[in-house]
Amino acid sequence: MIELSGVTKEFIKPSGEVHTVLKNINLTIPKGEFVSIVGPTGCGKSTTLSLIAGFEQPSAGEVYILGEELQGMNPKAACVFQTENTFPWKTVIDNVSLGLRLRGVSKSESYDEARKWIARVGLKGFEGYYPSQLSGGMRKRVALAQCLIVQPEILLMDESFSALDVHTRHLMENELLRIWEETSASVFFITHDLEEAIALSDRVIVLTAGPGATVKGDYKIDFPRPRNVAEISFDPAFMKIHKQIWEDLKDEVMISYENANKLRVKSS
Ligand SMILES: Nc1ncnc2c1ncn2[C@@H]1O[C@H](COP(=O)(O)OP(=O)(O)O)[C@@H](O)[C@H]1O
Ligand SMILES: [Mg+2]
Repeated sequence: MIELSGVTKEFIKPSGEVHTVLKNINLTIPKGEFVSIVGPTGCGKSTTLSLIAGFEQPSAGEVYILGEELQGMNPKAACVFQTENTFPWKTVIDNVSLGLRLRGVSKSESYDEARKWIARVGLKGFEGYYPSQLSGGMRKRVALAQCLIVQPEILLMDESFSALDVHTRHLMENELLRIWEETSASVFFITHDLEEAIALSDRVIVLTAGPGATVKGDYKIDFPRPRNVAEISFDPAFMKIHKQIWEDLKDEVMISYENANKLRVKSS
């Protein structure tokens, strides 16, 4: 479904220097797979997502979607970010139906479909509310319905649940899994939380600390589904894989921390 082949991404700094964020990333995500990506802050996770979404183009290498090289925006992908996805001046039903309206679907048909998705994410009865009248968790549900209504083949999520309290987060994660299991969407899920990555995913990818981040580890997570994310971390097998991936990740976190300190010393 998604293939990154020898992908390098560089940005030009205001000083004119080249900043290599990602270097030679090779990654294949099959149809229907749930993949999480973890790595230290600033290593290039969101940049990787931008390349898959088509917001950015690689400096070298290629991104393929269903075997075709991606050029421009990825029409098969929908994104849920950490920050708000919803329009504050639109009601829940207008926010959720927007994607279909933009695709030329009639208002009544979009509304019918939106009502189904609003119910599916547990917000039946809130169709006429504005985002400001909802809690943070409810707004996340709106954002999820807004994405899923267009039935994307690729769902891109960037720290989507990071701002939620732990109980709401677990509820949302379980709901995401429940809805995803009914679709055949591939999910690319960014998180800084290794537990969340393991609990949700079929695979966890560890990126190295930048600059020039690359894939350090690729772990298969084969716990049976359906899973309960609030309880899965008590499983000894969970703790074992957690420890194994953490061994890989912690070195990168330390490198990233040391690099940040060096920069701080240099600039002071
Ligand atoms: N549009 C951009 N222009 C210049 N530098 C960028 C741009 N986007 C990201 N970067 C840099 O790329 C690096 C990785 O950023 P990002 O992908 O957001 O990291 P992460 O999501 O892993 O925290 C950072 O050093 C950031 O400053
Ligand atoms: Mg990021």
